[in-house]
Amino acid sequence: MDFKEVVGWRRSIRYFQPWRPVEREKIQTILETARLIPKPMGIDFVRSLVVYRDDLSQEDLEALKTPTTTAQLDMAPVYIFWFADMEALSRGIDGRNLKAMVETDVLPASHGWSEEYVDDVIVPQVYQRILDDPDRTSLTPPGRGGDQDGPTYSRALLNLARSAIGMAHAHALLSAFDEGLGTQLTALSAARIMDIPSHWVPSSGMLVGYHAESWEAGGQRPREPFEDDFYEGRYGVPFYRDQQVVEELKEEGMIQPEAPLSWRREEVRGLARMFGLPE
Ligand SMILES: Cc1cc2nc3c(=O)[nH]c(=O)nc-3n(C[C@H](O)[C@H](O)[C@H](O)COP(=O)(O)O)c2cc1C
Repeated sequence: MDFKEVVGWRRSIRYFQPWRPVEREKIQTILETARLIPKPMGIDFVRSLVVYRDDLSQEDLEALKTPTTTAQLDMAPVYIFWFADMEALSRGIDGRNLKAMVETDVLPASHGWSEEYVDDVIVPQVYQRILDDPDRTSLTPPGRGGDQDGPTYSRALLNLARSAIGMAHAHALLSAFDEGLGTQLTALSAARIMDIPSHWVPSSGMLVGYHAESWEAGGQRPREPFEDDFYEGRYGVPFYRDQQVVEELKEEGMIQPEAPLSWRREEVRGLARMFGLPE
């Protein structure tokens, strides 16, 4: 699929064919795509855990459900959990990732980069400051299973880690659609099945499977008006939205008819009947 079509067809899919497994190659492709995100500070923060629905006990499956994630968990055969490793920066505190990029001229001398610059400026003034920032938080606050004397992390580091997760989400979502799969990011209550390092920050999970609802899934979800969200030159001046560009993007499949499509209610009723769900 063309990039613009992938963007256009991506939407949150909430009905999957429960009987159709997802090929392992496709899951690997999603992971390979997420691996190639831009890296905040040159650090690889993102981790993931792939879980197969059919390997879980019924109790574990039920325990994953949340108020916003219910029937789709029974349907999607694969769940990908995304995390950020809060120790990744400490492990790379010697700046080796950046030095490797200096050595290969990715970070060029013309822009001020050198090994000495990494050692003398980036490590002490950027990395160390982020790690030592006094505005700190614990990953599991006391009262929610956290330890009063447990480790704390700077919020600056948490922000970087979460931005890496966001990028991994976006790459992975688009990759899934490119592979012909449907997917949805969603809140999951995963503590019961998660035996992961305590310094991994969790995020939304990703359900993956083949569409049981149509690819339209009721239409592209409405967004706020373009001019309300994007500015040009200075705040208050809306970025001028050229209608010719909009028309071209419609032709290329990126901007698609908006929800609700006239037949959506009937589709949802039909799906509910097929899966024995409330109508
Ligand atoms: C981080 C994140 C978490 C989300 N969690 C949920 C969720 O718990 N339940 C749900 O139904 N949708 C969830 N969504 C999907 C959004 O509801 C959805 O993206 C939004 O309504 C726009 O629709 P679209 O994805 O179909 O374009 C989540 C999306 C993101 C980015």
